[in-house]
Amino acid sequence: MVKIAPSLLSSDFTNLEKEITKVQDAGADILHLDIMDGHFVPNLTFGLPVIKQIKEIAKIPVDVHLMVTNPELYLETLGNLNIDYVSFHQETVFHLHRQVSVLKSKNVKAGIALNPATPVETIFPILADLDFVLIMSVNPGFGGQKFIPLVYKKIRKLRRFANENNPKLEIEIDGGVNDLNASKLVEAGANILVAGSFIFKSKDYSGQIHSLR
Ligand code: DX5
Ligand code: ZN
Repeated sequence: MVKIAPSLLSSDFTNLEKEITKVQDAGADILHLDIMDGHFVPNLTFGLPVIKQIKEIAKIPVDVHLMVTNPELYLETLGNLNIDYVSFHQETVFHLHRQVSVLKSKNVKAGIALNPATPVETIFPILADLDFVLIMSVNPGFGGQKFIPLVYKKIRKLRRFANENNPKLEIEIDGGVNDLNASKLVEAGANILVAGSFIFKSKDYSGQIHSLR
């Protein structure tokens, strides 16, 4: 079953609690939080104090996507906050297995995120240890960008390898997801669809979530 994960990046930050309640009521399965540090990506969002408060009011699982150069500084704390899903970027970490182990020791669903130009093969050696892989379908840093179709091939390749090595692996797609590409993404093997502007730039959250599903 496909899970829809609205990205709060495109929501109204002056009314976060209202926005969270609205997407939850509209049928969202997961809340996607984009953490940007101004180094790994040319943008800044928010950090641990905000994540903590969101987790306190969220009624659905919280998914933290770390777009930061030093994700290892935050993994244990995110575990202590009982965050449900955490991903960090392959491009930012020397010791992938070590950092995945930190998340697993805290019972967090552990994921690795891949930029559009990073091959999925780079994580095959540790795929069996992962709960999910986040495939970026835009260059990370901003909401509202155009979907990059080269991800279909990556998803199929990853799903094929996962079928043999980790059949429960979840595949999350992030960036430019809309009602035109959603079904093709799921057909290719994705099961979590992140959507920011497609949901929050509309007035009808429930209609948008419904059309993605
Ligand atoms: C981009 C973020 C995405 C972003 C998606 O760096 O990781 O989660 O919010 O936004 P849309 O759906 O508008 O492309
Ligand atoms: Zn994201």
